[in-house]
Amino acid sequence: MRDKIVLEKARNEGLALTFDDVRLRSNYAEDMPDEVDVGSKFSRNVRLKIPIVSAAMDNVTEYGLAIELAKLGGIGVIHRKNISIKDQVSHVEKVKYHLNGLIEKPIWVYEDESVFSILSRREEKGYTFHSFPVLNREGKLVGIITGNDFEFCRNSSLKAKDIMTTELLLAPMGTTIDEAYDKMCKAKKKILPLVKNNGEIVGMYVFSDVKRIKTRSAETYNVDSKGQLRVAAAVGTGEEAFERVARLSEKNVDVIVIDTAHGDSKYVIDTLKEIKRNYSLDVVVGNVSIGESAKRLVNAGADGIKVGQGPGSICTTRVIAGIGRPQVSAVYDCAKAIEESDIPICADGGLRNSGDITIAIAAGAHSVMMGSMLAGTEEAPGNIIFVEGRQWKSYRGMGSLGAMEISGSSRERYLQQQTEKNQLIPEGVEGLAPYKGRLADVIFQYIGGLRRGMGYVGAASIEELRNKGDFDRITTAGFSESHPHDIKIIKESPNYRKDE
Ligand code: XMP
Repeated sequence: MRDKIVLEKARNEGLALTFDDVRLRSNYAEDMPDEVDVGSKFSRNVRLKIPIVSAAMDNVTEYGLAIELAKLGGIGVIHRKNISIKDQVSHVEKVKYHLNGLIEKPIWVYEDESVFSILSRREEKGYTFHSFPVLNREGKLVGIITGNDFEFCRNSSLKAKDIMTTELLLAPMGTTIDEAYDKMCKAKKKILPLVKNNGEIVGMYVFSDVKRIKTRSAETYNVDSKGQLRVAAAVGTGEEAFERVARLSEKNVDVIVIDTAHGDSKYVIDTLKEIKRNYSLDVVVGNVSIGESAKRLVNAGADGIKVGQGPGSICTTRVIAGIGRPQVSAVYDCAKAIEESDIPICADGGLRNSGDITIAIAAGAHSVMMGSMLAGTEEAPGNIIFVEGRQWKSYRGMGSLGAMEISGSSRERYLQQQTEKNQLIPEGVEGLAPYKGRLADVIFQYIGGLRRGMGYVGAASIEELRNKGDFDRITTAGFSESHPHDIKIIKESPNYRKDE
């Protein structure tokens, strides 16, 4: 990544800059915005089709948003706040099971189980699918139940064996997704169990998933090598983190994020080393804002670095503790310090408009993590709230009083796990984010803005934007010139709001 003159100069003067202090210069361009490649990576081995990561916050990333974001090419980090390890694992499981290439361990039912008990279990576990292999009590596959069988069943006390299909299309262990697709198309069968000679089921393909993976509709999906949507999960430090990682790794989580307010610390580094010693999982670590800190974490084995101390919309760390660094300089400093390592940087927090994505990447980030920019989407947890005639969704800092009072993990993130509730020192606030509608429409605008920015810079890829993007430092006059001025806005734009 080449030196950015404005940021270098600022660094030498002990001056730190953030998004509204700079704008990117335009350059000679050959590629049209729609042709640029916005693929990037979140960690050493985990790629992104769009450089967007959702924050590990309870108002932002649970399975619903993580599924939709992965379908759009990004990745969600399932939070660990007011939920148990079991619940966090179940969010990960729901993302991983949402779309399957090969389902290695299909959830099965016994032939003598009632329809009522199967449907209750489905509801209780939150399974989003309806197709189950049916086994006899010797463990041999004897049939399949699909959504149709449940739909046309008018008596829920019937047993699985009464409604299951017994004419099965079967394939041997090792059948590839291509072979499965051909076989299912030819036989017009929607389920293909893989079985051993003794009738034991060892895997299963579902046609709707296989078709999506094989055809263009899945082109944007961010999937792992088995065709399952990618998902990350947040952990803290120490014993609880090890327990979480053990359970999360069983569900094939793609990335572990050690999610702390102060990543450059002994307890984080010890946790990182211990996880890396025991698992072959990618571990992203944060948060930091100084190049030396990023380097220490990379040397300790981090597969990705998360940068951001205090830039977030709900953060008060800079005011309460007096620490933190304006985000564009923080990202640049960290990116420069570890540029030899090939470890990606995720710029976490402080983004307000799509142009900030372009700026963060040009400063050295490979991806951006968003909280407030996603908290108002339909897929984010929580209901729409009406205030003063407008629609909102709740959004609060993980270090806010409300979050810390109910969540040990929130207190741990801010090193107050032993603190009495009436003595907590919050580092965040609770508020509302404007309701924005469907995630897909919102991301379309964000990535659209990024593509435009890359077009202006003349960057055909994220790596080129990191390298070529260069900044001007702007003044308050330049800043107010950048926004609409001297008019009254009479129609809201889908990608611009005055109060954002
Ligand atoms: P945005 O600006 O996208 O920021 O809303 C989201 C990021 O903010 C961090 N975070 C906090 N930082 N106090 C803080 O100092 C808090 O209470 C708090 N909660 C979240 C976090 O890194 C998140 O991704």
